[in-house]
Amino acid sequence: MCGIVGYIGWREALPILLQGLKRLEYRGYDSAGLALLNGSIISVIKQKGSVSGLEAATVTLPEEMRNATIGIGHTRWATHGEPSDQNAHPFLNASRDIALIHNGIVENFSSLKQELISQGYIFLSETDSEVLVHLIDRIWKSDSRLDLESATRNALRHVDGAYGICVISSREPDKIIIARKGSPLVIGIGTGEYFIASDAAPIVEHTNKVVYLSDGELAVVTRDGYTVKSIENIEQAKIVTELDYSLDKIEKGGFEHFMLKEIFEQPEVMKNVMRGRVNPEKGLIHLGGISEYLDRLKQAKHIVICACGTSWHAALIGKYLIEEFARIKVEVDYASEFRYRNPIVGVDDVVILISQSGETADTLAALHVAKEKGALVMGICNVVGSTIARETLCGMYTHAGPEIGVASTKAFTAQVVMLYMLALSLSKGRTISHDEIALHLRELSCLPEKASRILELDGQIKGIAERFRDANNALYLGRGYNFPVALEGALKLKEISYIHAEGYPAAEMKHGPIALIDKDMPVIFIATHDSTYAKILSNIEEVRSRKGRVIAIANVGDGEVSRLTEDVIFIPSSSAPLSPLLTVIPLQLLAYHSATLRGCNVDRPRNLAKSVTVE
Ligand code: F6R
Repeated sequence: MCGIVGYIGWREALPILLQGLKRLEYRGYDSAGLALLNGSIISVIKQKGSVSGLEAATVTLPEEMRNATIGIGHTRWATHGEPSDQNAHPFLNASRDIALIHNGIVENFSSLKQELISQGYIFLSETDSEVLVHLIDRIWKSDSRLDLESATRNALRHVDGAYGICVISSREPDKIIIARKGSPLVIGIGTGEYFIASDAAPIVEHTNKVVYLSDGELAVVTRDGYTVKSIENIEQAKIVTELDYSLDKIEKGGFEHFMLKEIFEQPEVMKNVMRGRVNPEKGLIHLGGISEYLDRLKQAKHIVICACGTSWHAALIGKYLIEEFARIKVEVDYASEFRYRNPIVGVDDVVILISQSGETADTLAALHVAKEKGALVMGICNVVGSTIARETLCGMYTHAGPEIGVASTKAFTAQVVMLYMLALSLSKGRTISHDEIALHLRELSCLPEKASRILELDGQIKGIAERFRDANNALYLGRGYNFPVALEGALKLKEISYIHAEGYPAAEMKHGPIALIDKDMPVIFIATHDSTYAKILSNIEEVRSRKGRVIAIANVGDGEVSRLTEDVIFIPSSSAPLSPLLTVIPLQLLAYHSATLRGCNVDRPRNLAKSVTVE
């Protein structure tokens, strides 16, 4: 949450910062701002709203600021203080010679603010972030031996909470100071120029060489290089990583929205997750990232999977898969609950953290708790080099490519494919025969083609969305492997269309939610063929007899379901464990079309942002 960019080099900083902010807008779009530094002058321009609004406002900048070759920019997801011009970053000190941007939350801001106010500091915003710039100012002014770097370091020692910051000063005009604790920062390495960002998206068009800052590190970035030190001032050796994604992966590629592009990428994504890891003909699976630990994983008494949001729904499917195939007991916990409830995990247990971004604050904190308790910690992340990926003992990347749409789609299917392969790996030589594994893998390898066939139903699904676009509520029902899909379908609908939606295990309907059903309530059933199919048909009848409006996902050729409702989306059949990978796709499209028909901006749903780096 909140996007940070910085540039120092030989080119004009302004267009680089604006382009970078556009690439980071999925991290927040409440306000945008930037600070440019040229010689002894810092110019700040910031306002409520989008980066394109900010870009239009930059026409007023004087020529010498347009020529500036150092600058920092920020796109905000509001925590403390409403979205407004005043609360937009960057923040300046009173003498306007220090500018700062911040991602994270300063938890002790209130006491720091009171202290600074009592010393004469004047605050112009309601944010927690503004204390940082005044704190650096106070410390720097209090001791003439300090420089910007040491003043920033000393200031951060007073701060509780999370931060990713960039600081510039006209008193030391050839450097950017950056520091992180809990909020990601990456340095992109060019030739005579350096780029700073919250993630690699704004960097990829300039260079593929990056250095990831770790928690508790502070870096001084100049045109000639960078030095990274710990907050205790000890120099840190850093590894330069090569990014392996190209610009086309972070552009819309002819689609109206990133979300739609990412939904349509899913067949390819499924292939990418499997590539080099499975050989269906020979029945082989090799998960390189965990191979060293596979025996320990198989011996786990108990596996806990922690995640948030959509990744939590994937985790729930993972529980069904691992318990069914590998017969290991699995518990699924919201990372935000796990971290605070003194969970019972120990050295014989495995904790799996699932996160698309690899930066979600609660999931990262759950990882720390699990580590402290001695569990083997394993990650399933999409973003290469992300904090969770780096801090887990072992793990696997989902290789879904950058997910820019705020509503997660392809990351979910990639996670489920990964969990399917993990469950089979854990069963190998224990609970399932080699031939059975080969059979499952062959079925898995047919999934991308089946997913492509579902995407061809886009027009029909849009037609259904047109009929239901005015609904105020919706109920999603599924059983077994498709109960988590019902939860995911409901989450997708509510987060992008603002229609209130609930997911339930279908059998639970009669224990309460049935009271909600009337002629205005769309009820979306996942009614594919599995052991509970007959029960689902009865549930559909129960809804129909109360005049509810039924939409069903059923398997091609199912005459029973089409007898019960005309709104049926027919999808290819699969085994029950693989069905979530197919049933979720029509639900993603249904949510997408419902939202766009209602005029919602699906790539920027209100109040949301990607990569939730605050609690
Ligand atoms: C929903 C969505 C969120 C994320 C959640 C976890 O569409 O995107 O619910 O799934 O914030 O994010 P990651 O997977 O990055 O940890």
